[in-house]
Amino acid sequence: MRTHRPLYGLLALAALLSAAESGRAQAPATFTKDIAPILQQNCQSCHRPGQIGPMSLLTYQEARPWARSIKQQVVERNMPPWFIDRHIGIQKFKNDISLTEAQIATISRWVDAGAPEGDPKDAPKARVFDDSDRWHIGKPDVVVTLKKDLIVKAKQPDAWTDLGTEDLGLKTDRYVTAIEIKPIKGFKVIHHATSTLAEPDDEEAMATMKGTSNLEEYAVGKYGNIFPEGTGMLVKAGAKIFVNLHTHAVGEETAGNIAWGLKLLPEGTKPAHVMHSQQLGGPGTDIDIPPNQKNVRVDGYTVFTKPAVITSYQAHMHNRGQAQCVELIYPESTQSRVGNAKTETMSCVDRFKFDWHVSYEYADEVQPIIPAGTILHVISLYDNTAGNKFNPDPSNWIGPGNRTIDEMGFAWIDWYDLTDQEYTQAVANRKTLQKKAGTQTAAR
Ligand code: HEC
Repeated sequence: MRTHRPLYGLLALAALLSAAESGRAQAPATFTKDIAPILQQNCQSCHRPGQIGPMSLLTYQEARPWARSIKQQVVERNMPPWFIDRHIGIQKFKNDISLTEAQIATISRWVDAGAPEGDPKDAPKARVFDDSDRWHIGKPDVVVTLKKDLIVKAKQPDAWTDLGTEDLGLKTDRYVTAIEIKPIKGFKVIHHATSTLAEPDDEEAMATMKGTSNLEEYAVGKYGNIFPEGTGMLVKAGAKIFVNLHTHAVGEETAGNIAWGLKLLPEGTKPAHVMHSQQLGGPGTDIDIPPNQKNVRVDGYTVFTKPAVITSYQAHMHNRGQAQCVELIYPESTQSRVGNAKTETMSCVDRFKFDWHVSYEYADEVQPIIPAGTILHVISLYDNTAGNKFNPDPSNWIGPGNRTIDEMGFAWIDWYDLTDQEYTQAVANRKTLQKKAGTQTAAR
């Protein structure tokens, strides 16, 4: 048993030892008291009937047979799906669904004690889920869906399909201040959806059904993205939304469809800052992955020509993706002579899993504020061995390309630009905030 209280000499130590003794004698963790609240908060958004989790974890009867598997999955940090390296880079996110060490320890204790139910009187009230019939961003100004339902056969391998949506119907250029995507049909076959925005004159995007701006992503448990105050993402008149839909067969033929809800600034209004969302730090054609090898490294770079605030990060690789780190290389040297560049790791995804495309949204107070000239350095690692369960053929050489069996290696970054004056002010504000909190946060 650990205590976070300061210790005052031997007396405190004695007290601590006896607390440890009584800790051992204490009743074990029970489902109703200790486990149900964790499952409600971190698991049931996916693990309930009709959702993508392979089993429901709403009740003790449903969870009990999975106890060993639950322990294994949470101890290995495969579940909930959240793959940020916890030892380096920014650690505060708006959409963090990961468990704390204490929660993982509680689950382990519960399973090791035989997964007891406990007193039904301790059980929390069942959580109410209203995500299917509610827009969490508020009433959208525009709602579009897929042109027609996507039919997922009773039995078929996981599929990643590119599709277009209905026309957005925008007659003039507009700015999006919030966006949400959700399945409206066949929840359980829709694993996730990444959507992109294509400008009306982008012929390549129209042909490949892949836009060049990252729009918004759907994965269960995510309830829309409200852009920071004073920002908006430009959607040109005639722009199109494309989506890459990851579907999962569930044993019966199921029709799936999803809807996008967009909140817009009034016609003719511009936000103070335009949000950008782009693939950055891609290595271009420099991808050369030999067969049967892992830890194959590929680097890519993007220069920010203006000061900026980075608001989110998502690693993008394909079947052979293993891990990715994003580093910021600042233009100022740490020495007056020609010398070391000042660098800082923004984030690492230490275990990339091709079936989860999580967008990691930085908490306001840790969003990197970067000067003009900062280089975003993306380091991607690939695993082209049989040990990678998403690898369809480890004996193949892999090069760059759009297909999931070819590779990519970039970071989807959301950011907005600042003027020099705004930059100076933002850095000063951040420093004051850090001083107040008495902490040093990563990335300025
Ligand atoms: C965002 C959705 C989501 C959340 C949140 C989530 N899971 Fe899962 N879980 C899944 C999916 C989907 C699978 C199937 C495997 C995969 O796709 O990774 C899965 C698989 C599992 C498995 C393995 C089942 C098997 O077939 O062996 C366990 C155990 C599990 N989850 C437990 C949990 C627990 C416990 C939590 C919360 C602490 C949790 N999950 C949170 C979606 C989720």
